[in-house]
Amino acid sequence: MKKLLTAFLGASLLFGAVAANATPEQDRQQLLEYYKHKFPNLKFDDYVHGALNFNPDALSQYFSIMEFPPYDSQFDKGRKMWETPFKNGKKYADCFPDGGKNLAGHYPYFDEKLSKVVTYEMAINSCRKANGEDEFEYKDMKTMGLLTAYSRSLSDGMKMSIKVNGPKATEAYEKGKAFFYQRRGQLNFACATCHVQQVGNIIRTEYLSPALGHAAHWPEFRAGEKVTTLQTRYSQCIKNVRAKPFNQGSEEYNDLEYFHSYISNGLPMQTPVFRK
Ligand code: HEC
Repeated sequence: MKKLLTAFLGASLLFGAVAANATPEQDRQQLLEYYKHKFPNLKFDDYVHGALNFNPDALSQYFSIMEFPPYDSQFDKGRKMWETPFKNGKKYADCFPDGGKNLAGHYPYFDEKLSKVVTYEMAINSCRKANGEDEFEYKDMKTMGLLTAYSRSLSDGMKMSIKVNGPKATEAYEKGKAFFYQRRGQLNFACATCHVQQVGNIIRTEYLSPALGHAAHWPEFRAGEKVTTLQTRYSQCIKNVRAKPFNQGSEEYNDLEYFHSYISNGLPMQTPVFRK
């Protein structure tokens, strides 16, 4: 038995596999160990920089770009949206504790009453609805994208702190985990194939980022001003393996985001960030 266990731990260190019956915390620790083993010099907090960690030139370029971000005018649009009162005179800030500061790191969470995972975007829409406004479309980057690019920045530096408590929450988490490890598409790749097993390798022209840190820096502005949310990125990666993407805001993506965010627990959030 001991031998078997050691063999399994050895294999999981090599392949980053997680045990089917592990607790979320065991999953997280196991992935952490896997990446630490692979990248012994990479500091925990630096995982928020994703693939940039593998390319020192790109990382230093990134830091200089972030001093005068090219997306400032877009970011300001998001700020204006956040600060403009609804027709009833109330504001987004009135919907959330402490005006929405240090909040985003608690999302997604499992809502027992609704019996489902609630993402940050869903909370924004609930706020709009409660104030008599139409909901935003999840994938509309001009509304949801820009607004959350600003409002999530109110949680900059907050440590990711996703909770998975109770059987139903665990079930949703497990579904997200299964999604992450499931192979799909013509290329028959799982998220884990690229972001765990092949992490740090180059595919086409890009280094593959670790899944640890993935969820801590959204939205991103790509190529200057193009805002991209985490679930938009899910769809891009799924299309890249020639599989059919799910709808943004679907239960599949929300459960994936729940698992995917949990494994970044403890990392300081940063929003928005620039990516090429
Ligand atoms: C064929 C390999 C491949 C697969 C499979 C894949 N991705 Fe990616 N992914 C990439 C590449 C390439 C990038 C861009 C470089 C990078 O940041 O890793 C990327 C980027 C990302 C990013 C953005 C990282 C950042 O810092 O900007 C996230 C998040 C992500 N992928 C999540 C996923 C998830 C979740 C899945 C499974 C649904 C998945 N990926 C499947 C190749 C893949």
